[in-house]
Amino acid sequence: MAWLRALLRPSSAPARTMRLDASHARQVAVLHHLGGFARGWEPAECAALIADAAVVTDGVFCGRRNEPLGFVMSRKAADEAEVLSIVIAPGHRGDGLGAVLLAAHLARLGEEGARHVFLEVEENNEPAERLYRHFDFREVGRRKGYYPKADGSRATAIAMRLDLA
Ligand SMILES: CC(C)(COP(=O)(O)OP(=O)(O)OC[C@H]1O[C@@H](n2cnc3c(N)ncnc32)[C@H](O)[C@@H]1OP(=O)(O)O)[C@@H](O)C(=O)NCCC(=O)NCCS
Repeated sequence: MAWLRALLRPSSAPARTMRLDASHARQVAVLHHLGGFARGWEPAECAALIADAAVVTDGVFCGRRNEPLGFVMSRKAADEAEVLSIVIAPGHRGDGLGAVLLAAHLARLGEEGARHVFLEVEENNEPAERLYRHFDFREVGRRKGYYPKADGSRATAIAMRLDLA
């Protein structure tokens, strides 16, 4: 499938971001799977999340491609938001797409009333932690044994917080 092949192939086209809708549910499920998380998301689950009025989902695209190369999803509650997931397709990591996507997403969350953004990241996930620190997320706690691993062990989660201006 051309879209799946494109996820693994680098591209030098300029990036743009856009809010995703239910028509992107299958692509979000595939991207989430490629994120390597212990629990996958079914397309129906992604569609329900995207359709939830409290959930904000943005995608990053390259050139004229209509399929996202990455997505980020957050749930809002009052003046807070929690990042549920962010994934860039494996062939496109380390090219700044995560930063472009997160910048646009944080701007949207701010426009929609969020003042504080929370997330959890697995200890030793260096690209993700660097990405978050780049945006001034600060560590506010650690949860030992939070993430189940494929080998049966459990990894520590670092809880992070960003106060939007
Ligand atoms: C985390 C993720 C979204 C980052 O996206 P990305 O497009 O690769 O990130 P960027 O290219 O914008 O780089 C962001 C930062 O990470 C750093 N980085 C990127 N790839 C890296 C790597 N392999 N090792 C170390 N640092 C890395 C960049 O140098 C940059 O840091 P800087 O601002 O200090 O220079 C992506 O790696 C990914 O999809 N990972 C799998 C899913 C995942 O772990 N999601 C986070 C769950 S909490």
